[in-house]
Amino acid sequence: MDRADQSTSPHTTAYNGARRVLTGNWVGASTVPSRSLYPHQWSWDSAFIAIGLRHLWPLRAQRELETLLAAQWDDGRVPHIVFNPSVPLAAYFPSPDFWRSSSAGTACGAPRATETSGLVQPPVHALAAWLVHRADPVSSRQRGFLRRMYPRLVAWQRYLTGARDLGGHGLASIVHPWESGMDNSPCWDPPLSRIEPVGSDTFHRADLDHGRADDRPTDLDYGRYVRLAENYRDHGYRDHDCGHPFAVEDPGVNALLVLSEYALAEIAGALGRDPADHLVRVEELTNALVKRLWDEESGLFLPFDVIAGETVREHSAAGLIPLVLPGLPERTARALVRTARGPRFGLGDTTRMVPSYDLTGHAHDPSRYWRGPAWFNVNWLVERGLRRHGELSLANGLRAELIHLAARSRYAEYVDPVSGEARGTRDFSWTAAVTIDLLTGGPSAAALPAEGRRIAVAVD
Ligand code: SER
Repeated sequence: MDRADQSTSPHTTAYNGARRVLTGNWVGASTVPSRSLYPHQWSWDSAFIAIGLRHLWPLRAQRELETLLAAQWDDGRVPHIVFNPSVPLAAYFPSPDFWRSSSAGTACGAPRATETSGLVQPPVHALAAWLVHRADPVSSRQRGFLRRMYPRLVAWQRYLTGARDLGGHGLASIVHPWESGMDNSPCWDPPLSRIEPVGSDTFHRADLDHGRADDRPTDLDYGRYVRLAENYRDHGYRDHDCGHPFAVEDPGVNALLVLSEYALAEIAGALGRDPADHLVRVEELTNALVKRLWDEESGLFLPFDVIAGETVREHSAAGLIPLVLPGLPERTARALVRTARGPRFGLGDTTRMVPSYDLTGHAHDPSRYWRGPAWFNVNWLVERGLRRHGELSLANGLRAELIHLAARSRYAEYVDPVSGEARGTRDFSWTAAVTIDLLTGGPSAAALPAEGRRIAVAVD
């Protein structure tokens, strides 16, 4: 931040508060999303956290990603949780003795000495690694940061485009709602309705010890989450013979997969390698995303239920995330901006931040986790996308709201999209991290991979 700006301006207050959160949540080699609700390392959280940390302590940002990727499985998957052995089992459910990765995950090459979950989360990691490198290229080169991360990041992306191409159309499928990062989104209601829940008396939810039940998923949701995770574990976390009862192509996950493939092209170039393979994949993935998930009628990307063989006609903020891609056809980008401003998301009109789910949708709930509240990481991606596609005034307005509401809500996990009132836990790491990124980089910080580069995307 500009030194001249360092008085008691609201931006200084927001910056200092965010820095305090990230300092407090650092646990030595990584950052917890929240000291109370999420006391281990989470995969996509760490990627967003590193994007903020790079402005404060670039070495710490490198370390954050190194710690996560050290727990990568031999099949390439990056687990959604890396457990801290010094945290008591009762502090979080499902705990390591539920996942049993070091024994149940042997066939897939789970680490022996570290306990993890067997699921994944959205692939923001190559993007994060590229941005972290750019923040301090000298220390990154000295430490061989990109050189060490690149093969791991490539293996991670290839796991998603390989073993997880369950629909056979070139997109990655999620096999559990937690893998979308948007756990109880109404988008998962139709595919989840086919899953027989386990009884709620068979597990104890630690999340309700730390958060209001009205802000969290229901017990019925948890019964189904547990059933799906148990099934995966009991099949050794093998994708080919697990008979996944839940498989969905999510537009948010796949857009981030493409963005990270762009980042791999940049990383390959920085390492003196040929980026061509990554750029070919960018083009193929973008084509598949547009062809399979774009819904002309609603002007939004919608998930595809691979098991039922049909589009899920629920409208969530995940469908706006492809706006962050430079290779999106111009008319698709324009339609997405119209949808963001329209009655479903109300951007620049009825809402202060983009809600996680359709304001007009039958299941909208402005308080309950991913069924309506606005999240800071998703809005950061939308802000980057708006800026990327030249919507500067909307992007500036959203940036100002993000910074203001983050500080006012005490870095809440999520907020009511209309009133901006805090929901979920407070002192949440990625809320602080994206605040630092927006404040430090300012409006011109849209230095995402492939800035200015356009690729040809066929649309029929
Ligand atoms: N977000 C999930 C939880 O609430 C799983 O990672 O625990």
